[in-house]
Amino acid sequence: MKSIIPAIVHYSPDCKILVVSNPVDILTYIVWKISGLPITRVIGSGCNLDSARFRYLIGEKLGVHSTSCHGWIIGEHGDSSVPLWSGVNVAGVALKTLDPKLGSDSDKEHWKNIHKQVIQSAYEIIKLKGYTSWAIGLSVMDLVGSILKNLRRVHPVSTMVKGLYGIKEEIFLSIPCVLGRNGVSDVVKINLNSEEEALFKKSAETLWNIQKDLVF
Ligand SMILES: NC(=O)c1ccc[n+]([C@@H]2O[C@H](COP(=O)([O-])OP(=O)(O)OC[C@H]3O[C@@H](n4cnc5c(N)ncnc54)[C@H](O)[C@@H]3O)[C@@H](O)[C@H]2O)c1
Repeated sequence: MKSIIPAIVHYSPDCKILVVSNPVDILTYIVWKISGLPITRVIGSGCNLDSARFRYLIGEKLGVHSTSCHGWIIGEHGDSSVPLWSGVNVAGVALKTLDPKLGSDSDKEHWKNIHKQVIQSAYEIIKLKGYTSWAIGLSVMDLVGSILKNLRRVHPVSTMVKGLYGIKEEIFLSIPCVLGRNGVSDVVKINLNSEEEALFKKSAETLWNIQKDLVF
């Protein structure tokens, strides 16, 4: 990053940088620091892929096309990511209103396993073919499409979350962001329930424990 980023910014001062390399949330922070770019122009691919996998698996379980299943994963792109069960819906009908235990340990339909599968999927694919490529390729195409065509679609991508949900450190985590030609123009502040907020803060703590020792 130290060799690549200064050259990118030198030759393309108006660029937006989309970071995909792992650990993506930490590297997005590092790229932001090294680049000196405004926060809105350094974006991590974050949970865009996790959320797509989440919607796909929800669709498989329900027998409904994934584009008609809505659900978000926020926080770290990795083991401490946070599934927002309260927001999972089909046609505006929140699944949690049908089963308040959805996503909890006492849920008899084991929806929680879907989140576990999302976390495990990269490990599983690497075990089977050695690397992941197609899904992240499509996910990046999706994000770049929103930026290049100024679509202003909302994506769960990694952005600075200091000041949100009581987070005091300079941490990058995924939250829903409006993406367009200027990068992240707005963030959508979701009302998290107490459990979701606690998990989001834990995700931030996990990252901060690694990030705090970085020296530039
Ligand atoms: N965010 C996500 O959802 C997601 C998904 C898949 C992969 N990834 C990440 O993407 C990254 C790449 O994965 P991959 O499977 O393509 O790995 P890879 O090892 O196949 O490819 C990495 C490439 O980077 C090149 N490279 C290394 N250092 C360089 C430098 N200083 N300058 C220019 N090129 C350099 C290498 O030569 C290599 O071709 C990894 O960090 C991986 O974890 C992220």
